[in-house]
Amino acid sequence: MPTLHWIAATAAIAGLAVPAAGLVARNAPSDGTCTKTTVAILGGGMSGVAAAQALTNNSITDFMILEYNDKIGGRALHTNFGKQEDGSPYVLELGANWIQGLGRPGGPENPIWTLAKKHGLKNTFSNYSSILTYNETGAVDYMDLLDKYSEAYEKAAAKAGRLLAENLQDQTARAGLALAGWNPKHSDMAAQAVEWWSWDWEDAAPPEQSSLIFGAAGSNLTFNQFSDENNLVIDPRGYNYIIQQEASTFLKEGDPRLRLNNRVTNITYSDDGVTVYSDDGSCVSAAYAICTFSVGVLQNDVVAFEPELPQWKQTAIQKFTMGTYTKIFLQFNETFWPTDTQYFLYASPTKRGYYPVFQSLSTEGFMPGSNIIFVTVVADESYRVEQQTDEETQAEVMEVLRQMYPNVTIPEPTAFMYPRWTKTPWAYGSYSNWPVGTTLEMHQNLRANAGRLWFAGEATSAEYFGFLHGAWFEGREAGYQIASIMQDKCVQVYDNAQLCREARPFYEPLPGTSPLDHYNILNGWATSSFYSSDSAQKE
Ligand SMILES: Cc1cc2nc3c(=O)[nH]c(=O)nc-3n(C[C@H](O)[C@H](O)[C@H](O)COP(=O)(O)OP(=O)(O)OC[C@H]3O[C@@H](n4cnc5c(N)ncnc54)[C@H](O)[C@@H]3O)c2cc1C
Ligand SMILES: *[C@@H]1O[C@H](CO)[C@@H](O)[C@H](O)[C@H]1NC(C)=O
Ligand SMILES: *[C@@H]1O[C@H](CO)[C@@H](O)[C@H](O)[C@H]1NC(C)=O
Ligand SMILES: *[C@@H]1O[C@H](CO)[C@@H](O)[C@H](O)[C@H]1NC(C)=O
Ligand SMILES: *[C@@H]1O[C@H](CO)[C@@H](O)[C@H](O)[C@H]1NC(C)=O
Ligand SMILES: *[C@@H]1O[C@H](CO)[C@@H](O)[C@H](O)[C@H]1NC(C)=O
Ligand SMILES: *[C@@H]1O[C@H](CO)[C@@H](O)[C@H](O)[C@H]1NC(C)=O
Ligand SMILES: *[C@@H]1O[C@H](CO)[C@@H](O)[C@H](O)[C@H]1NC(C)=O
Repeated sequence: MPTLHWIAATAAIAGLAVPAAGLVARNAPSDGTCTKTTVAILGGGMSGVAAAQALTNNSITDFMILEYNDKIGGRALHTNFGKQEDGSPYVLELGANWIQGLGRPGGPENPIWTLAKKHGLKNTFSNYSSILTYNETGAVDYMDLLDKYSEAYEKAAAKAGRLLAENLQDQTARAGLALAGWNPKHSDMAAQAVEWWSWDWEDAAPPEQSSLIFGAAGSNLTFNQFSDENNLVIDPRGYNYIIQQEASTFLKEGDPRLRLNNRVTNITYSDDGVTVYSDDGSCVSAAYAICTFSVGVLQNDVVAFEPELPQWKQTAIQKFTMGTYTKIFLQFNETFWPTDTQYFLYASPTKRGYYPVFQSLSTEGFMPGSNIIFVTVVADESYRVEQQTDEETQAEVMEVLRQMYPNVTIPEPTAFMYPRWTKTPWAYGSYSNWPVGTTLEMHQNLRANAGRLWFAGEATSAEYFGFLHGAWFEGREAGYQIASIMQDKCVQVYDNAQLCREARPFYEPLPGTSPLDHYNILNGWATSSFYSSDSAQKE
């Protein structure tokens, strides 16, 4: 049953009697100095662009995108690195890199995969079975642990499915794995490395902090519903090429509806409209706004909201987790690691998560002959290396590589680089993770609108949080939902689900679990059943 607050919010929005698109500007605050628009889209990443396209598709063309950076794309971001034979640099992804879960013939397809095919984005199948294992003495075979982990994970995921279907209390992924038979000692460094590769590498958080239910559900919804393939994007135009190309389907060259280099500082919102102030003193007043800033940005209080965001929203923002995922790139004058293998897993003798996964780009299908390898750290190790100089971090990585390949004389790298995502003022981290003990309703409070201020982005996706496709789905849904309200019509969002003129519910107080009938499209749960590989294959 809906809570009283939910009814109140719906009634308040329904009572607004929204006029046709052209008239809406009158509803906005009568602040003569601000540029007027119908929908202000805050942020030009995947979510903001999908929202603008969704509005366009519904004939709402009076919108403005306000973006901090000098380009569209957000956390899909690349940079030049090192040198090719002709002296020009390679192009490497600092943020999103994989298309995760592609799709099966006849089955649902990951929309990012659809866009990658449409725009001819260069990508290569990432083979997670192409892996060698190491420790501080060199190559050591502990591959059998990978299968042991997988067996336990399957059991834990099935248990998660039962907890969800029976509406029982969440557990940590740690508890779920241990109960399913994967319970390594802290001193078993090979098992710790395998666990890091299998869990932390995707979630950018350890199993202790992660929700068993939503970790398993999220993994199912991407890798069972679409497919378990991950393709690494290696396009010299960058991953954000597909976002920019989609933006150009509705934005002309120099379109005044896109403001780049525009840092939003203040957002004033009510049930009547939203006014957005930027650091250059400009402002935009809109009938609606969609805020697509990362959870990191919202958590860091860098944008001032007037009035202060309601407690239920602030709690949801602080409850959700922003992870950090750091790729550290090295180029050498030669490739001293095996070129027929994609991944090299290192078990540090002293510290879990210490430079654990190396990835070769010099391998066939990627950037052969590039002599580029990169290593990834997450969470606490990311925070630690972000505080170090490049020289300090490079020395640590080189020590590890020399342990892994004791029989090779390894030269110093010719290029070295890594981003500091936690200190990036328009992201404050990499992507979100669903923490243990967080209900669907709590998550819904992260995505619910506060008056005419809506929220979208990677983190507001209940089903695909953390992924680029989550950002796309959520931007689209916010755009469709606002169109539905403004134009007083129902919109078909998925084959099996419509949205009809409804604002998003929020929940207060929050009970310990969310009733099963709240797993619905209005709360961001579009799948009619809980996907298993079986049901996905049948569809
Ligand atoms: C290191 C890393 C690795 C990742 N790997 C993958 C992967 O392999 N596969 C995958 O699917 N996903 C991956 N992701 C996640 C993916 O990048 C995100 O889910 C997605 O890009 C988020 O899109 P978004 O539109 O929600 O947010 P964003 O891309 O963050 O867009 C929000 C926009 O808001 C802007 N903004 C912020 N603050 C302000 C302000 N004050 N004023 C104006 N504008 C502002 C930002 O500049 C940004 O452009 C990765 C992310 C990172 C960082
Ligand atoms: C908008 O419509 C086009 C054409 O039908 C479609 O390809 C695209 O996915 C739609 N975009 C969104 C965000 O719904
Ligand atoms: C992935 O790598 C494994 C191990 O090298 C190999 O047996 C398998 O054929 C590879 N798969 C594909 C699709 O290339
Ligand atoms: C290094 O060389 C020694 C002696 O030749 C050999 O026993 C060992 O297996 C080699 N180690 C690696 C990791 O190749
Ligand atoms: C923006 O917020 C800051 C901090 O709350 C405040 O000092 C400032 O006056 C606000 N500016 C505008 C234009 O509202
Ligand atoms: C790479 O550099 C090292 C040290 O400078 C040198 O010994 C080695 O021969 C070089 N390798 C190639 C392939 O040039
Ligand atoms: C690393 O592997 C070697 C060889 O198998 C083994 O003797 C050593 O104990 C391992 N190190 C750790 C910390 O487990
Ligand atoms: C995940 O998929 C597995 C395999 O189909 C299924 O048994 C399990 O119930 C699912 N778990 C969740 C949480 O969706």
